[in-house]
Amino acid sequence: MSTFLDAARPETPPAGTARFRPAVHFTARDTWLNDPNGLVFHDGLYHLFFQNNPYGNVWGNMSWGHAISRDLLHWTEHPVAIACDETEDIFSGSVVVDHGNTSGFGTADAPALVAIYTSAYKAASEHHGTQAQSLAYSTDAGMTWHKYERNPVLTRNSAHFRDPKVFRYQGEHGSCWVMVAVEAQHQKVVFYRSDDLKTWDFLSDFGPMNADQGEWECPDLFPLAVDGDADNVKWVLIVNVNPGAVAGGSGGQYFVGQFDGARFVPDASSVAAPAGVSALGDPAAAAAALQQCLWLDWGRDCYASVSFSNVPDGRRIIIGWMNNWDYANQLPTAPWRSSMTLAREVHLTAANGSARLVQQPVLAGPPAGEAPPAAAEQIITETFELQDSVLRLPVAAPGSAQVIEAEILPGSAEHVAFHLFANDDGSTGTALGYNAATGRLVLDRSRSGDTGFHEKFSSVESAPLVLEDGVLKLQIVVDRCSVEVFAQGGSVVLTDLIFPDAESQENWLAAGGGPATVQKLTVSTLT
Ligand code: FRU
Repeated sequence: MSTFLDAARPETPPAGTARFRPAVHFTARDTWLNDPNGLVFHDGLYHLFFQNNPYGNVWGNMSWGHAISRDLLHWTEHPVAIACDETEDIFSGSVVVDHGNTSGFGTADAPALVAIYTSAYKAASEHHGTQAQSLAYSTDAGMTWHKYERNPVLTRNSAHFRDPKVFRYQGEHGSCWVMVAVEAQHQKVVFYRSDDLKTWDFLSDFGPMNADQGEWECPDLFPLAVDGDADNVKWVLIVNVNPGAVAGGSGGQYFVGQFDGARFVPDASSVAAPAGVSALGDPAAAAAALQQCLWLDWGRDCYASVSFSNVPDGRRIIIGWMNNWDYANQLPTAPWRSSMTLAREVHLTAANGSARLVQQPVLAGPPAGEAPPAAAEQIITETFELQDSVLRLPVAAPGSAQVIEAEILPGSAEHVAFHLFANDDGSTGTALGYNAATGRLVLDRSRSGDTGFHEKFSSVESAPLVLEDGVLKLQIVVDRCSVEVFAQGGSVVLTDLIFPDAESQENWLAAGGGPATVQKLTVSTLT
């Protein structure tokens, strides 16, 4: 049996790789990008700086590109903010608003924005062979930047010291700037403090611990009140790792614990492998321990996630690079290559006595009056039983993205799955399903379209998932070349890139091996 709802047929998508250009994920117009950098909110605008090759669409000539948004969904690209030169590449880092003019780059009335970035020194530099931390500042709200003439401000004479994330720490004994960076090849996060952003003192280091089978990169550290309780604040330490993530290649892990202004101590419930999974020796034991680490995302394509600074009301919002170093330079798009994930608001919530992150995509859309809100189409109006049948969903119009929200009782069904960008006979498509036997949410892109551009691209990802009162809750954002899944209120997240065939534009929901009950199903369009 097949249930056909009144779903619109797809219009013919544009030719070439233009059809993969995301509707609501940031891409550079016609160049390469990787990590988000210097995420900062200032004067009503969100700034997204990013690792950018201004001269091509593969990694190289690393500079900070720049984009601005008012709603975190629609971005406008601006000229390169901080450019590489013959002495240095501009690697990842962060931006702070220097409200107290501690650096002297601005004034008390008009604070400067200060970028703290990694100088990856080239042969023409006296520092060649090292990576060190440098400053640049802007006194025109982030539009133009000046490198500080006394760079670098912090060196360890190390070849792999990078990715500084700076924030204002407020403690019992006053406040100061804290820098979180990495010794990438030693799997260590290093902590420094400063009063003026120019002179830095070492505080402590952390690691290796948990996932350590690759370089540690792009760390972040921030406090969050558990379930909004101001008397129960915990600190989240994000540590990106490449390779060695749970789905293979690049990925982001996190630890929950305490930070006293000098040292981070993880909660026991955050620790799966105290000396790192590589110390376990046996590959099977390491793989099992990786499953116990805390992952921001269980998919293949969410890396280098870091948070915005200076966002009002204590909101914490992160963005990741929607890619994986395993195949990043080979993605089949031109002239642009690579995009960011959606912005995700994060919270800490208590789960079985431990604090865990939950993430919700920011989908609010433009400020009122600027564009119509996303139109939601309700697919079922009353509880619907699905058994050995398919429920067809609307297809996305060219250039738009879709948000699918569902609440499903898998019941005695062996599997329930969405098939996205599928063809009529189901021989191609991306499957997102719940497997009752394993208790896992599975994202299968092995037949998603073009998977042949790199041997590591075809893959099946999965994450452990606990039903809530028997219910599977999904929020799925499907853009032109990506699927982002927020399950069980955002406690399980999976992100994968896909490159569907032009003729595979159908979406449906199917169940097999027993009946499943669909309680809620809506599809919204995002443009
Ligand atoms: C992470 C990373 C960072 C580095 C940047 C260089 O993807 O390797 O550690 O700063 O990319 O582009």
